[in-house]
Amino acid sequence: MLNFHYDIGTEIYFGKGQLSALPGAIQKVGVQKVLLVYGGNSIRRSGLYDQVKDLLAQARIQVEELGGVEPNPRVTSVNRGAQLCREKGLQAVLAVGGGSAIDCAKAIAAAVYYDGDAWDLVLQKAPVTQALPIFSVVTLAATGSEMDRTAVISNLETNDKLPLKYDVMRPTASILDPTYTYTVPRNQTAAGTADIFSHLVEGYFAREEAYLQDRMSEALMKTCVHFGPIALAKPEDYEARANLMWTASLAINELLAYGKGTAWSVHSMEHQLSAYYDITHGVGLAILTPAWMRHVLQESTLPKFVEYGVNVFGVDPALPQEEIAQRAIQATETFLFDSLGLPRTLRAVGIGEEHLEEMAQKAATPALYENAFVSLGAEDVLAIYRACL
Ligand code: NZQ
Ligand code: ZN
Repeated sequence: MLNFHYDIGTEIYFGKGQLSALPGAIQKVGVQKVLLVYGGNSIRRSGLYDQVKDLLAQARIQVEELGGVEPNPRVTSVNRGAQLCREKGLQAVLAVGGGSAIDCAKAIAAAVYYDGDAWDLVLQKAPVTQALPIFSVVTLAATGSEMDRTAVISNLETNDKLPLKYDVMRPTASILDPTYTYTVPRNQTAAGTADIFSHLVEGYFAREEAYLQDRMSEALMKTCVHFGPIALAKPEDYEARANLMWTASLAINELLAYGKGTAWSVHSMEHQLSAYYDITHGVGLAILTPAWMRHVLQESTLPKFVEYGVNVFGVDPALPQEEIAQRAIQATETFLFDSLGLPRTLRAVGIGEEHLEEMAQKAATPALYENAFVSLGAEDVLAIYRACL
């Protein structure tokens, strides 16, 4: 296990009715004026928009708004939000929505202090040293952005989707009320569950070993496998929504990465797909994950696949190791494509051969080669993309 410094500074208010804690959490850090960031119409339809506005008004917290944040949030929205914060002297950013609204809010909080295009920050042309306090009210169990330090931002002009990652961008407090996810549509519930599962897989199949972290990860993977299909069948099943919601946060808040690291191999490949084709992140991950598993399965990685098959999917440990590994990958497919009903191929989401080579070149960063579970170069990525067509 590697050395680590444990510091997960986000306060979590979890459960029904916890929204009432929001004004207090905001006031606790001396904030009186916030930027409310949200996506399309989902929070208006559910009534959450009115509830949040009423609560903030009662607490005399002044609100400016940035609505219409896109799924796969654009840097143009980040720049607009940062400009608003500067013009109106706003002191914090509050996201109400899924990972896209939260990521946009986090990037805005950092970009406020940078006098230029926020894309420079994403490209690391300038460092992020401070950010406004960030708050979130989560409406979709998926990214875990409510408790991590990352914002993933897209630039349509350059077909790039890249992470911006700094400690100062970890939210101060997040409200996790599972009932807000009752209205998440089927495809997004499935994609969100696949995203959570992928975050776990990315950490589990990493270079370093950490026994305890892997056992915790298996528990979280099993929670996805168990409750994902239940949430699809019964969208208002509180236990299913609650378990998925908390799993999403724990999967990526670094609890499991401490002492181990995370490879992010499949994420590097997926971010190209959503950058070029604007597809849903979790759908891309689901398509790529089994193909990536087949590509990296080799003698040296076999024991890890055996561990995964036996502990997550209950494959018979008495079987030959190679068979356990194959069954583990098949079980992963059954979960993603049959139980969650996600698309199986790139073509099914409108992706053909046209940009595969370009995307493979972009995905094959030095990190993918040097830090991944199995080193991957552009030719490996291309082979994985092709296997998914
Ligand atoms: O825009 P609205 O109207 O709110 O609708 C959204 C959107 O259309 C809808 N939705 C959200 N909550 C809902 C709901 N509809 C009905 N009822 C609700 N309660 O769902 C759609 C998708 O929302 P979005 O926020 O885009 O989804 P998600 O939470 O999956 O976020 C995806 C983004 O996060 C990034 C992804 O790449 C993608 O850009 N990621 C962020 C990470 C992080 N910050 O650490 C890590 C992830 O790996 C990921 O890359
Ligand atoms: Zn993800």
